[in-house]
Amino acid sequence: MNNPRESRPRICDYEGSNYRTEFWEGKGRDYEDRVERIALRRLLPDSGRRLLEVGAGFGRLTNEYRNFGQVVLLDYSLSQLRYAQQHLGASDRYLYVAADAYSLPFRPGSFDGATVIRVIHHISDTGAVFRQIRRVLVPGGTFILEFANKRHLKAMLRYTLRRQDWNPFDLKPVEFVELNYDFHPDYIAQMLEAAQFETQQRIPVSFFRLASLKNRLPTNLLAMLDGWLQHTGLLVTPSVFTQNVAVGSSPNNLSAPTIFVCPDCGGELAHDGNILVCRSCSRRWAIRDGIYDFKAPLDE
Ligand SMILES: C[S@@+](CC[C@H](N)C(=O)[O-])C[C@H]1O[C@@H](n2cnc3c(N)ncnc32)[C@H](O)[C@@H]1O
Repeated sequence: MNNPRESRPRICDYEGSNYRTEFWEGKGRDYEDRVERIALRRLLPDSGRRLLEVGAGFGRLTNEYRNFGQVVLLDYSLSQLRYAQQHLGASDRYLYVAADAYSLPFRPGSFDGATVIRVIHHISDTGAVFRQIRRVLVPGGTFILEFANKRHLKAMLRYTLRRQDWNPFDLKPVEFVELNYDFHPDYIAQMLEAAQFETQQRIPVSFFRLASLKNRLPTNLLAMLDGWLQHTGLLVTPSVFTQNVAVGSSPNNLSAPTIFVCPDCGGELAHDGNILVCRSCSRRWAIRDGIYDFKAPLDE
């Protein structure tokens, strides 16, 4: 049996990482967290059936998706999902899925909402991930994407002063550290359109991402000012949020009895205790303490 994982792009693996404690908690990023929530609240629909959070990590933002009946947290890292599960709890409201965004284990049209926040900067083939997300969304579904913007003020200044090699005006993504990319807003727009998304809004976020400002001024003030500046639409910030709608015709399976299919062949899955067995290719996928594990089949 061929192994599709061998030909997939590399993954920035957060398994066992201390992302929560080393990057967020007590690390002076309350401002970033606040302004991201402000942008998200502006872009999220008032209601929805089922939202897919791609690269959910430890579930930092999951409580923002309260307008949806169900939230599926998907991440490549089991350890991040375990933490999320401990804090959000195990119920029908939340499903936890360890899988690769390049190969989503879902039936077409299983979701009417999807978010990708602070994840696409780890993705070398953005088009492939956008196509996967479009496949699992219903027509008219909302896709909120955050991306790291290469054409931000500091980069433009540094480039003008010849303190930086890469050109922030060039459309090509820049890989500044292995598997860490910044993107030009027009590049992202093109990739979204090619994957059958129509962009409705683009919001610049994190105008004041400077330690010198964050250390001197109250977070409340900076967050409030950022919230206002987000209305300007000036895409010169290190982070940009976009709201996109799925266009074109495709299936709607929001009411199907199960959302899961085999990520390798798309076949139907049958339950065998804590294992899902593909009826087409016979691959077997584990459910580990309530987390669906589609990273690799059992016995591989
Ligand atoms: C910087 S964290 C962001 C987590 C969360 N969205 C947040 O904003 O707090 C990036 C997450 O993307 C996940 N990730 C990276 N590449 C992935 C892939 N190919 N498939 C699924 N998850 C991926 C990582 O495991 C990690 O948890």
